[in-house]
Amino acid sequence: MIRMAVFVSGGGTNLQALLDSENPYGTVALVVASNPRAYAIERGRQAGIPALVFQRKKLGAAYSEKLLAALAEHRIDLVVLAGFLTILDEAVIAAYPRRILNIHPSLLPAFGGVGFYGIKVHEAALARGVKITGATVHYVNEVPDGGEIIAQRAVEVLPGDTPETLQRRVMEQAEWHILPEVVRNQCKTMEEDPSWKA
Ligand code: GRF
Repeated sequence: MIRMAVFVSGGGTNLQALLDSENPYGTVALVVASNPRAYAIERGRQAGIPALVFQRKKLGAAYSEKLLAALAEHRIDLVVLAGFLTILDEAVIAAYPRRILNIHPSLLPAFGGVGFYGIKVHEAALARGVKITGATVHYVNEVPDGGEIIAQRAVEVLPGDTPETLQRRVMEQAEWHILPEVVRNQCKTMEEDPSWKA
């Protein structure tokens, strides 16, 4: 059984989609939050999953060391960034090669990279006037939103869309489907090929 840590910063709807999904190969063993007020922590608690809060501003240079120690202590095999807003540094990324997944609310490379996160992504898509947007699941590397793309799903932009209505549609029609699908397939692959194990 692959043990996952889901990293969150906000409402946790992608975490909820993972918790509600069928995945015989993996289980969410830990929630890691970047702030103590993230409602995602409550979603994990309701599912009986422990949560840890790691605030880079408070931990400073010790952030990555403490984060890695906690992931090892919880025997984490796979990291899933789900609405997570802290940039992970090289030490963390190197410890989990092709084992950190991220969900981004656009069709990368469009509207990705530094400064493109959460509602800002949808504001930029509407400002540009794109007719199709969507979501992307990719491996995390040292380039923000730059890792190998694993899955994407397109969503139509509708006349009169606001950033909020567009964000909701992208979540409902794309994010909450492709993230659980990719996570299930990744866990299956890791289960079947022990060389993936940490
Ligand atoms: C979502 O749009 C996600 O794609 C982005 O952050 C937003 C909030 O996600 N990364 P969640 O509801 O906290 O999962």
